Amino acid sequence: MCGIIGYVGTQDAVPIIMDGLKKLEYRGYDSAGIAVFGRHGFDVVKRKGRLTALEERLAGEPIDGHMGIGHTRWATHGEPSDVNSHPHVGSGNRVAVVHNGIIENYKQLKERLERKGVTFVSQTDSEVIAQLAEYYYTGDLLDTVIKVANALEGSYALGIMCLDEPDTLIAIKKDSPLIIGVAGNGLFLASDVPAVLKHTNKIYYLNDREIAVLTKDQVEFFNPDKEPIQKPQETVTWSVDSAEKGGYPHFMLKEIMEQPGVLRETIQSVIHNGDNKNIIDNIDVTRFSKIVITACGSAYNAGVVARYVFEKLCRIPVEVELASEFRYKDAIIDEKTLVILISQSGETADTIAAMREAKSKGAVTLSIVNVVGSTIAKEAQHTVYTLSGPEIAVATTKAFSAQLVVLYALAIRFAAKLKKITPQTETELVSALVSLPDKAAELLIQINYIQKYASECVGYKSIFFIGRNIDYAIALEGSLKLKEISYIHSEAYAGGELKHGTIALIEENTLVVAIACCKSLYGKIQSNAEQVISRGAKVLFVGNCIDAAPGDKLSLITLPQINELFSPSLSVIVLQLFSYYVAANKGLDIDKPRNLAKSVTVE
Ligand code: F6R
Repeated sequence: MCGIIGYVGTQDAVPIIMDGLKKLEYRGYDSAGIAVFGRHGFDVVKRKGRLTALEERLAGEPIDGHMGIGHTRWATHGEPSDVNSHPHVGSGNRVAVVHNGIIENYKQLKERLERKGVTFVSQTDSEVIAQLAEYYYTGDLLDTVIKVANALEGSYALGIMCLDEPDTLIAIKKDSPLIIGVAGNGLFLASDVPAVLKHTNKIYYLNDREIAVLTKDQVEFFNPDKEPIQKPQETVTWSVDSAEKGGYPHFMLKEIMEQPGVLRETIQSVIHNGDNKNIIDNIDVTRFSKIVITACGSAYNAGVVARYVFEKLCRIPVEVELASEFRYKDAIIDEKTLVILISQSGETADTIAAMREAKSKGAVTLSIVNVVGSTIAKEAQHTVYTLSGPEIAVATTKAFSAQLVVLYALAIRFAAKLKKITPQTETELVSALVSLPDKAAELLIQINYIQKYASECVGYKSIFFIGRNIDYAIALEGSLKLKEISYIHSEAYAGGELKHGTIALIEENTLVVAIACCKSLYGKIQSNAEQVISRGAKVLFVGNCIDAAPGDKLSLITLPQINELFSPSLSVIVLQLFSYYVAANKGLDIDKPRNLAKSVTVE
């Protein structure tokens, strides 16, 4: 969480940094700040609240400079406030720092510095970095940064400037993402590519403990022993437009609408000319006695969908574990286990820890990741990228959908290699999968109806989602989507579980969204619907096997026909749009829901 950016170059750093911060605001947005190397020292402006508060302040009190650093915060240590915002500057005003991560030993370091007479002004863990750097500085910022890094425990991506070195910006990272961008007008450091995309697509991805020393026209890299190292420059293919709203009121709506294209691109990348020749071909799948899928939030929900698909097609046991639980449970896994990590950002702290735990126990790791060069993508033994482009809205939509299609493609190939499906079934499944983007586009034509229906649902205090089998898996995602952006309480249940407790919550006019794509279980979900209707609930059926007429208590959204296993990719689009329009009708800040951040790089 938190986004950092730094710039040194030929232009005024302030508009460049402010623009970059807008692209990073999805990482945290409770306060923001900027420091530039001004004419008389550091000019630092920090404001609690959204970036607009900082913009307003800068408009009234402009600053400028050719080098600067900026930060948008998701508070961990110390409440959101002006003083706790970054950049932090040492007591002597000589070193300025922006930090993304958590310094676990900050209390010890702070006490040590306080004993030496240093006075702290904030409640943050990050201030200790600026104070320590000032304390250590003896004329060489690179030496100082190495010394500071050696003292820090925890995670950090840092941008550091020193008053005595007016042309040098230093970047270093451990367990938090950091990229370096090389443009014609200068050099950048940033938490993520969209922050610099307007200026360059030439990127270096920093590895843990590597240091980048940026001046206005060059970057040099060093290892922690201060030895120069060479790094490959990469060219990212994301377009500038992909990080803009493109006429939509919110990124979330834009990203929902992009899904047919994202599905097409991602499917094409794992299936060539109808041949499902994918990464599984590089792995001896016969060696596995089970698969464990681990991830967080929506990515975990994608894993729950995948469990049904893998078990059905491959006849291999699949466990799905929340990464935050998996990492501490002393999982029973070994070299006969395939551990699949799913992550849009590739930087989720719990998923990284789960991956490292799996590797340490000898399991084979395969990651499904959207952000190229991210930690999980780099560290997993095998990686498949979802080709979603940058996802800016905090609530994931297109990246989730891309994860699903990668999982389907892997499951089909896995099953074929295990000879659990015939070549003919493989061909049929591949062709059904390839048809999915068109079906998604067809579904989006119903957007007006979904919008109208959702606009009538803003008053609910609580909304339940039910389904059975794979429909239950996607109910989990529908419920998460709704609660995170609309702030309406919501739960998802396997339809058969209702009568074991939850039905007590059903009263007059409760809304229950029932997913109905599993033909063989349609009768069961229909009787669940009847049970709640007879207790006063209203039901919205979303599915492609519904055999019921709409009425006072029953509304229907019908999906295009598709192989049942892939139906979550269609039902989820309805659920995303439903949540989006409920939140839009409530006038909420959809792209940046309260208390959340997109990339959860802390535990
Ligand atoms: C919900 C959402 C989160 C993420 C979760 C994992 O809309 O976006 O639940 O799915 O934080 O993030 P990644 O996929 O980056 O590991």
